[in-house]
Amino acid sequence: LRVLSVASEVYPIIKTGGLADVVGALPWALLAEDVEVRTLIPGYPAVMKALEQASEISSLPNFFGGNARLLGGSHGALDLFVLDAPHLYDREGNPYLGPDGKDWPDNAFRFAALARAASYIGLGAVPSFVPDIVHGHDWQAGLVPAYLLYSHRPHPGTVMTVHNLAFQGRFPRHLLMPLGLPPEAFSIYGLEYYGDISFLKAGLQFADKITTVSPTYAREIQGDEHGMGLGGLLRQRASDLVGILNGIDTAVWDPGSDPAIASHFGIERIEARAPNKAALQTRMGLQVSPETFLLGVVSRLTSQKGLDLLLSCLPTLTGSGIQLALLGDGEAELRDAFRVAAAHHPGQIGVVIGYDESLAHLIQAGCDALVVPSRFEPCGLTQLCALRYGALPIVTAVGGLADTVIDETEAGVAATGFKFAPVTAEALDHTLRRAAAAFYAARSNASNWTRMQLNAMLTDVSWRHRAGRYAELYRQIVAQRGG
Ligand code: ADP
Ligand code: GLC
Repeated sequence: LRVLSVASEVYPIIKTGGLADVVGALPWALLAEDVEVRTLIPGYPAVMKALEQASEISSLPNFFGGNARLLGGSHGALDLFVLDAPHLYDREGNPYLGPDGKDWPDNAFRFAALARAASYIGLGAVPSFVPDIVHGHDWQAGLVPAYLLYSHRPHPGTVMTVHNLAFQGRFPRHLLMPLGLPPEAFSIYGLEYYGDISFLKAGLQFADKITTVSPTYAREIQGDEHGMGLGGLLRQRASDLVGILNGIDTAVWDPGSDPAIASHFGIERIEARAPNKAALQTRMGLQVSPETFLLGVVSRLTSQKGLDLLLSCLPTLTGSGIQLALLGDGEAELRDAFRVAAAHHPGQIGVVIGYDESLAHLIQAGCDALVVPSRFEPCGLTQLCALRYGALPIVTAVGGLADTVIDETEAGVAATGFKFAPVTAEALDHTLRRAAAAFYAARSNASNWTRMQLNAMLTDVSWRHRAGRYAELYRQIVAQRGG
């Protein structure tokens, strides 16, 4: 089975969040299921630089305002198609935002072009790779099923995966024609959304199947609270909507061989974890103390991630001598607030603002507990990394966090972390105290905390048993379409 995966980011080439991790890891995981995946991504500078064995497949003259080319190539084990369109993508930095921190004004064209190129491949533009399924990720690929549908030609089946319903790709209606979409597409049964065009809605409306990245999020987004205006549509499509949990790349995240950490460890050598805590404390300017409860955070700093709740709990932390090591970037207000907290509590609160892959690994290996107080979380990957590295996750009971972390109150001796609801500062505060109590109790009797760590590290967070769900879905679509 052949699948064309379409996305705006892919690890390890270009990443702003978990989307890239998933798009980068799935092809490899699907290979074991006899599914051959090639990934189409925009030719940003980082992609053009990373592309190996590049060859031109076709030229696309006057393509959304400039000349473009479709290239084939690879990067490591990833087989890639790249849309080389300098007028759209030859811009350094973040794939979505200009230097002013605002969305590029031509994002509608930038990602419509990506979807259009995908539809060409879907319709057979590359004879050596005619996909059975075109699988689009998030709003940037939302128009794929629309372009295929309105080509009025036989075309492959389609899957749309929602990694985050909060980003919908909403643009003014006058772009309909310039985007090459027919007037009939602009309907409430099409891509019309409160008078605008929504790329994500197009994907949700027209794809054969919709997936999202956890079973709980699949349920939540059918409701009004988390449906973000698309709950009604998702309810209607409930029989075509499934939640498939993400995994992580367990070769990239392997405490037994991770080059970014100070000491390798595993379930048989859990005591070898300790030097990582000391290394992290040193790196973050914290007092080096194995006895002190050390919380970690690795996160985008946005309202989704609920870190304002953690700010409200700082008095509890500082009052009870708990340490915090935070790595994140995002909204200015949150960045500033954490910087100020660090300045006021040197040695106790360490903050690094920015994006730092290897520090993310050291935090997972060194902190005692990773805090993820998200307001909503489609899946979440950092808690999966934490489980694998024996950092107990402290999470809200939403989305994929609810599905991947087991609290003592749910399963006693099988617990892997701490989970709370509702999503309030009070509940977080209470849970931080509960976690701290469990940590400090371990000083007299280590067994409980260590048992939770072992449970966590034994949790299967790999793609091994998850990629098969995608393979099953692809085959189901092909069968239904009589292919
Ligand atoms: P989201 O995609 O919503 O940001 P996920 O938990 O799914 O959340 O994925 C986040 C990914 O990005 C993880 O791989 C995490 O390690 C990484 N990450 C987030 N913030 C940073 C940062 N500041 N530095 C390095 N890695 C980060
Ligand atoms: C999104 C979500 C996150 C999910 C990731 C990968 O960025 O916010 O919860 O893990 O996509 O699917």
